[in-house]
Amino acid sequence: METANASLAHPQRFRVTGGASLVGEVRVTGAKNSVLKLMAAALLAPGVTRLSEVPDILDVAIMSELLRRLGCDVQRDRDASTLTIDVPQRIEHRADYDLVRRMRASIAVLGPLLARTGEADVALPGGDAIGSRPLDFHIAGLVKMGATVENEHGFIVAKVKRLTGATIWLDFPSVGATENLVMAAVLAEGRTEIDNAAREPEIVDLCVMLGRMGAKIDGAGTSTLIIEGVDSLQPVSHATVADRIVAGTWAMAAVMTLGDVTVHNADPAHLEIALDKLVTAGATVDRIHDGFRVMMDRRPTAVDAVTLPFPGFPTDLLPMALALNAVASGTAMVTENVYESRFSFVNELARLGADIRTDGHHAVVRGRPLLSGAPVTTPDIRAGAGLVIAGLVAEGETIVSEIHHIDRGYPKFDEQLCALGATVIREAEPAVTFD
Ligand code: UD1
Repeated sequence: METANASLAHPQRFRVTGGASLVGEVRVTGAKNSVLKLMAAALLAPGVTRLSEVPDILDVAIMSELLRRLGCDVQRDRDASTLTIDVPQRIEHRADYDLVRRMRASIAVLGPLLARTGEADVALPGGDAIGSRPLDFHIAGLVKMGATVENEHGFIVAKVKRLTGATIWLDFPSVGATENLVMAAVLAEGRTEIDNAAREPEIVDLCVMLGRMGAKIDGAGTSTLIIEGVDSLQPVSHATVADRIVAGTWAMAAVMTLGDVTVHNADPAHLEIALDKLVTAGATVDRIHDGFRVMMDRRPTAVDAVTLPFPGFPTDLLPMALALNAVASGTAMVTENVYESRFSFVNELARLGADIRTDGHHAVVRGRPLLSGAPVTTPDIRAGAGLVIAGLVAEGETIVSEIHHIDRGYPKFDEQLCALGATVIREAEPAVTFD
């Protein structure tokens, strides 16, 4: 069983000591937001799929369990970064609530199951506390491709004899809907066009793997995807694209702590706007052969940020942008355009003394020289990383609870922070007793 499971079984917290500058080298592994979809895509081809650069995170453990319940044999190799998925000829088509509620990305099995078996019963997901996150684009697209989709007793129940190609417009370039519809379309009869498709590097990674499996996809990385359906696909070996959000988190942490961090296995082209913001804040960012180096020698200058689908500033780095501006000199406006509840964790940052005022999808952040350590609780993965990093620039100790959220997306976050010179201790959450 993956080590990332520990914090879910026994509640843990991070004790973060403020004051250290992050200095050193760090290597990023594969992207959570890619590997979960690559694992779902394996369902499209019977036989053995091998994925490398798989991060040791809780969400991979959850997706592995989901695939096992569908009849697959899923093993992690001894070096822990390769996952082998053996997909049988006949797979089950039901994804239960106990797993799906833990991870919204479970919905990625909907398209592949429907394409492979003509049936999919997938529990309506839960996920992060960052907004309502509906599935209407996923469902409307599958209906256009000929499926019937009902909501029955908390499940999406989809059926089709064989999916047929269609022209689908997305109202918003949804990452999850684009992925589900691509995975459905590759085995559909005829041609599918997806307009206003998402362009994230993780979508490109999925399309590259599908293409090597035998799918015919044009336009990956643009907003129009054209898919010519085929009758069957073959399993392949594939290396997961590097995690640009983890890489961006290291970059922002280096700037906030006035550090010097070299990030390996990171593509700066996947983070152009975010790295440019750091340069505006006063940092030096140098490209190296397999990543970049971020150096900062003075208090950052406040810098505005507006989240948008790729190639815009990523919504998943919004908590880090708020944390950075909380200790910058000056005032910044940070705008969130993807999720309506992304700012819900601002009250936790305020417990550390951050001066942030929100109004709708805007936040005004007035920087102060130092935050002040306090106990905080993280509501989701990215807010968790933002709070830990804020703890690094807080006087005294910050205790971050509910860190199973962070373990969902950041492999060995505490160990990597310590290797860069921070003091972050993982400890058991004390039991609450009432007299
Ligand atoms: C993925 C990422 C997440 C990232 C997000 C945006 C994974 C596992 N998660 O989430 O980390 O923050 O992309 O970059 O890859 N929407 C609808 N109807 C739909 C689908 C989406 O209205 O059917 C809305 C959502 O509510 C949200 C917006 O579209 O406001 C973007 O969502 P989407 O791009 O689908 O995000 P996810 O794929 O869930």
